[in-house]
Amino acid sequence: MAKLFGSQELYHGLGSLDELKKIHGKKAVIVIGGESVKKNGSLKRVENILLSSGFQLEIFSGVEADPSVSTVRKGAKLFSEFQPDWIIGLGGCSAIDAAKAMWAIYEHPDLTFEKMTEIGGIPPLRSKARFVAIPSTSGTGTEITALAVITDREKGIKYPLVSYELLPDLSIVDGELCKSMPKNVTANTGLDALTHCVEAYVSNINDNYADAMAKGGIQLIFENLLKAIENPQDGEVRQNMHDASCLGGYAFTNAWLGIAHSLAHQMGGMFGIPHGCANALVLPSVIRFNMKSTDRYDDLAKLIGCGTSGEDFAQAVEELRKLSSVPSTVAEYGINEEQWFNAVDIMAEHALMDPCTGFNPRKPTVNELSAIYKAIYKGEIVNF
Ligand SMILES: [Fe+2]
Repeated sequence: MAKLFGSQELYHGLGSLDELKKIHGKKAVIVIGGESVKKNGSLKRVENILLSSGFQLEIFSGVEADPSVSTVRKGAKLFSEFQPDWIIGLGGCSAIDAAKAMWAIYEHPDLTFEKMTEIGGIPPLRSKARFVAIPSTSGTGTEITALAVITDREKGIKYPLVSYELLPDLSIVDGELCKSMPKNVTANTGLDALTHCVEAYVSNINDNYADAMAKGGIQLIFENLLKAIENPQDGEVRQNMHDASCLGGYAFTNAWLGIAHSLAHQMGGMFGIPHGCANALVLPSVIRFNMKSTDRYDDLAKLIGCGTSGEDFAQAVEELRKLSSVPSTVAEYGINEEQWFNAVDIMAEHALMDPCTGFNPRKPTVNELSAIYKAIYKGEIVNF
């Protein structure tokens, strides 16, 4: 029997930020990335709500993309000095992921990142503080997932922290906060959300609930992503994309991901390709590889009305990627050909070991993963 995870308190819809009034306590830390939440006014709104509820506030700012171990340690130090009883992750997934890891170390100061990556390595949290996630991008679904990814730049290691302890106590999914998201971030994060839904739907964990949420997310993304890029101020469209991202988070928390993510993780680590863009570059090839083992992409083609086969669905993803102005090939992204081909074998080896690979509907070999990397350089179609 499957347990549906991600079932903490969730509010969504335009204006749902006001639900923050429901939390009570003495001290709160707001963790943010750069300037965007200051410029778009969402930090001020969060501060005003918390101040009027009587909270004393501290802000931790400067969480970078791919948040680092050193940033997490700095944040945890601030937490231990200030002793908050609520932690608010506000912004893109980096700010929220970093805040989750800061929270774990605040609760357990001796916890190492090596320990945290072990199964069951994060002991129970919430003896000192509880956690609110308020995303301002529509991609990872981190507000609803048991995940945080932290990078140790000195050791060149990415730590995927996976624990249901990291599920936020309260998530607020308010599309209003996404209106200032730039077009390229809207496109990349939206295609990341699409990849979550697609991979969860075809994964080797069959789950009716995850399937329904994945399909719901896919439909919303095909109907709304281009509108969100063209009309960034359309609140309803922004809310639909925010909901789709959250649905994807629910779906993959329950049914996991596949080799599009395994391949994309290496492209981010080795070449700095933004996560959603990397997923979009590999997804059509992964669909063509997997459709020899599963007919579930046929359902998705029918769902969005683009045809009846996996190939029809792969082409619909390519079309959406193109219309979103996301590069169609690694060459178009601008990576040097020699550097790419020198790296593909090692990236394929690492991708094979990625935890997502175990949930893919077709078990790949290292040579097949390497062939996908080679093919996407110029957008060739490989017949596996
Ligand atoms: Fe992702």
